[in-house]
Parts: sequence; C-alpha cells; structure tokens
Amino acid sequence: MLANRKSRSLTSSIILLAVAYIFLIWLPLSRLHKYQLYHPRPTPILNSHLSSPNAIHLNLSSERFPVTSYTPLPTQPSPIPRIQYDFPPESKRERKQRVKRQKAVKEAFMHSWNGYKSHAWMRDEVSPNSGRYVDSFSGWGATLVDSLDALVIMGLDKELHIALEALEHIDFTTTFSRDVNVFEIIIRYMGGLLAAHDLTEGKYPILLKKAVELGEMIFNCFDTHNRMPQMRWEWSRSAEGEEIQPSERMALAELGSFSVEFTRLTQITGDPKYFDAVQRITNELESSQNATRIPGLWPVWVNADRLKFDSSDFSLGGCADSAYEYLPKEHILLGAQTDQYRDMYNNAMDAIKDNMLFRIMTKDESQKVLFTADVWSSKGGGMHSVQYVQDHLKCFLGGMVGIGAKVFDREEDMAIARGLTDGCIWAYDQMPSGIMPEIMKVSACEDIDDCPWDENRWYREVMAKPVNTPAEREKAQEVVELEGIPPGILSLRDPTYKLRPEALESVFIMYRITGDKSLQDAAWRMFQNIDKATRTKYGHSAIQDVRTSVSEHSDKMESFWLAETLKYLYLIFSEPDLISLDEYVLSTEAHPFKRPSGYI
Ligand SMILES: *[C@@H]1O[C@H](CO)[C@@H](O)[C@H](O)[C@H]1NC(C)=O
Ligand SMILES: *[C@@H]1O[C@H](CO)[C@@H](O)[C@H](O)[C@H]1NC(C)=O
Repeated sequence: MLANRKSRSLTSSIILLAVAYIFLIWLPLSRLHKYQLYHPRPTPILNSHLSSPNAIHLNLSSERFPVTSYTPLPTQPSPIPRIQYDFPPESKRERKQRVKRQKAVKEAFMHSWNGYKSHAWMRDEVSPNSGRYVDSFSGWGATLVDSLDALVIMGLDKELHIALEALEHIDFTTTFSRDVNVFEIIIRYMGGLLAAHDLTEGKYPILLKKAVELGEMIFNCFDTHNRMPQMRWEWSRSAEGEEIQPSERMALAELGSFSVEFTRLTQITGDPKYFDAVQRITNELESSQNATRIPGLWPVWVNADRLKFDSSDFSLGGCADSAYEYLPKEHILLGAQTDQYRDMYNNAMDAIKDNMLFRIMTKDESQKVLFTADVWSSKGGGMHSVQYVQDHLKCFLGGMVGIGAKVFDREEDMAIARGLTDGCIWAYDQMPSGIMPEIMKVSACEDIDDCPWDENRWYREVMAKPVNTPAEREKAQEVVELEGIPPGILSLRDPTYKLRPEALESVFIMYRITGDKSLQDAAWRMFQNIDKATRTKYGHSAIQDVRTSVSEHSDKMESFWLAETLKYLYLIFSEPDLISLDEYVLSTEAHPFKRPSGYI
C-alpha cells in the first residue's frame, strides 16, 4: 500500500515535472508560432514552369520596323501650380486618431500580404478563401511586384528585402502566356518597379535592372507597320521573328496608358525609345480628338491598325478611363514642358461637361452628387442616346478633375471634382454593406442646379413604365424592397465589389487638395466596411453582393488591393508630405513617380 502510494506520488511528480517542462517549452514556442503566423516565411515556389530549359526567351530581337529618329524628351520644365493644401499643424487628438486609423490599414495590408506570401509567393495572386493561387498576368509575381512601392511607403523594410530577393528570380524574358496583356503588365509590373526605384532613390539596382528587362521585352509589341502597339501581344511570334499587327479593336485606355510609365522609364534610363513610342500615340490622339463623333472625346474602342477613331460608344468607365487620367498626369511628369496635354485636357473636359456630366436625384436635396453618363452616338454624331450608369471604375474622375483644376488653372472645376468624389462616397453610404456596387443605373436630374426629390418619378424609372394607381405604386415598392434598391438608384447591374480603389483614390486626392477632414472620416467608414465584408483566412476577397452585409466571397484578390486600395488608405491617414502630390505623380495603378522639380 505504502509502496504503492510512493510510486503513485512518484508518478504524479513525474507528471507534474513533465507538465511544467512542456509548459516552459510550449510558452516560448507558442510565442514563436504566433510570430511566425504574423511573419510567415514565403512558400518556396519558384516559377518552375518558366525556368524550363526549353522555354523561348525574348530579349532584344532585331526589329522589322525600326524607328529612324527618336523624339527626345523635353528638357526645360516650367512651373506648375501647387496641388496640395497648405496643411496647418495637427492637434494631439487629431494625430492620435489618424495614427490609430493608419495602423489598422497597415494591419489589413499585412494580413493580405502574409496570405500571399505563405500561399502564392511569386505567383500572380493568392486566392484568399481557398489558399490556392492564380497566374493571371503572365506569371511574373504580379502581387509581389505591384506591391513593392507600398512596402517602401509603409516602412516594411524586412518584407521589401524578401521581395527584392525574390525579384532576382523573376524572368521577364519568357512567359507561359500565349498573349501578353500589355496594358496590365505595364501598369502593374512596370509601375511597381519604377516607383520602388524612385522611392528608394536607386539604392537597389535590381529594380531598374528588372524594369529594363521588362521594358525591352514589352517594347517588341510596338514593332508594327505604323508603330502602334499590339495589346494582346503574340509574343512568341515576335520571338520567332514573325510580323505582328496593331490591334484593330483596342480599348482607348490601352492605347492611352503608356505615357506615364514609359516617360519615366526614359527619364531614368536615358533610352529615348520609350518616350518616343508615347509621343507617337499622343500625336495620333491629338489629331483625332476633334474628328470623332463627339469632338473632344475619343470612343471607347479604337482601331490602331488603321488609326480610326470613329466608333459609337463613349464613356469614362473601364476601357477608356486612364487615357483621360493620363493627360494631366503626363503634363505634370513632363514638367509642363509642352501645351499638348493641356490643350487635349481642356478640350476633353469641356466635352465631358457638355455631354456626360449629370446630377443624380437624391432624397437629401442638399447633396449635390455628380456622375458621368455613357453616351452612344450615331454616325456623323447627329443622334445621341444617354445611359445614366455609374460604375465603380468611374470613381477615379473626382481626383482627375481636382488635379486638372489645380494644374491647368480651372478653379471652376473644383466644385465638380468635389461633387464627383461625393457621388462615390454617397454610393458607398447607400448600400447595406457600406460598399458601392460595380455598376448601377441611377435616376438623373433634369436640372443640375435644381433637383427636387420626386418619389413617383423614381418608382416610374425603376419600373420603366407609368406608376399612377395605388396598386402600381405598391408593386413598385415591392420591387424596390425585393431588389434592395436604395432611393435614387434604379437597378444594380452588377452588385459585386472587386476590392477596387477608385473611390478611395479620389477621396485621397481631394483630401490632399482641400484638407477637408470629413474626407478622412469618409475613408475610415469605407475602410471599416470593406475590411469587415471582405476579410478572409488568407487575405481579403472580392464579394458577390454589396446589398448584404454578409455577402459570399469570390475567392479573388487582385494585386490592386495591396498596390492601390490599401496604399491610398494608408496615405489618407499619413502626414500630408508623405508622397506629396507636388513631388510625385501617381500612375493609374497608384505608383508614385518622382516629378521634375519646380512648382509655383
Ligand atoms: C536571352 O535571354 C536568355 C535567358 O535569360 C539568355 O540565355 C540568352 O543568352 C539571351 N540572349 C541574348 C541574345 O541576350
Ligand atoms: C479642337 O476644338 C477645340 C474647341 O473647338 C479647339 O479649341 C482646338 O484648337 C481644336 N483642336 C485641334 C487640334 O484642332
């Protein structure tokens, strides 16, 4: 009995010791584990599908249609009016709140970055629900490269070094893609490389080396009979020395969105060919601008093979957007050296005001909420039909008009810039999720200055037929409720949210221009709602339906979530001299490029 008790107490002391031992070991281990979760190691996936010894590579091939003389960069910058508001020092309280908000944004960034790092490293995107990966942009690590300058801006040095090491292994001279999507490659990869180079002041040679490698590769898409690019570039044809054709049906945005990236590449490397390619395109856009069906605007679809700009659809949404956005931005990056972009912008802006700008009928009449319509125009431009549709992609416009108002002395446009920005904030605030849908149809005011709320008219437009009797009215109310349509909106053509940045982009720019703190508050509201609705195990995901606060996820996180959306948010809550708009131009993918010095 005694012996037994002894052995029992021995057993219990052994157990006790073991527990203490495990506890002691486990405690630091668990800390370590937590730390590792927060700083996961990148999965060691190399792009083995690219490093096959049989892969074709394309570096400098001889051109079929070489350029005989290059247009040089203008060299004498002239002053540009100041863009940013003259911010007064902030109070302690303001600072505390701002820093707290910024920390929350950075935490969201780290959450998504870590998901990418541990599950899709060096691939294009992580699938944020399943933890799989997608190679959507030629498999060169789109999220990694697109995020480089955000890592610099957020002071994530350790992450930057890991990313720069990986960059050494990305080979831009080959890809598994049959066609290379030139537009996306330029804005995401070239933008990320050049901006990180600018922000680190050339400290990491790998950035420029890879920018040049990519530039040399992509430049082959200009080797056509008229030096206009082929945008779904059949790169293996080029590699094999065969001729390629410029695209016959090209989105305007594709043609017009080389300027900022290629100009910066020429400015940094001194190689004139990139800027020369941009100048050829700009000259074509300039000479066609007054000859389209709506003079001042270019159609969404253009024929780059025969240089025809005669199609019927006009919009500032996707496929057109950045061609307009780059007019003031290229003007700034060139240091206001030519009047070409100013003239083109002034023409376009006047045409936008005359043909597209409208106010939406809102219940609260004190809100002057502006959007731009899509216009279809008949041959010869005699007949127009107008669609009052607002897409999320159009939300960049407030920022563009704000910058244009400043640098081109169009003060009268400032109220429009604000109305357009408020329009997108309004759309976020209307939805149960607090997030604007991808595309919606809305009710337009007849008079932009006088627009009383008319409930009956709203019902009539929702139903697309007269609503007179109480029964018809009841039916309309039912539809509105069933479809979850907020007042002033007619239908949600596409109720998804794809983690897009454009609304926050305009909020950021207008905040830097006006210093109005209510814009910071709007951004904070938008961030919290987006974070809540989209956060997943491995990042943040696009959602299916903004009409519910518990929408299904689409398992999709495009690289612009880190490169743009969260960067704009971070900058909204930073000190205003971090990436000052008077020192940098932000590309259409939110990549800051250093401006030549000199503003008024
Ligand atoms: C092209 O690139 C491949 C892979 O980087 C390399 O092996 C090859 O030597 C290069 N060719 C030329 C002509 O530079
Ligand atoms: C286009 O039209 C506008 C407005 O009528 C005019 O100011 C501008 O000079 C024209 N541009 C060209 C290139 O003809």
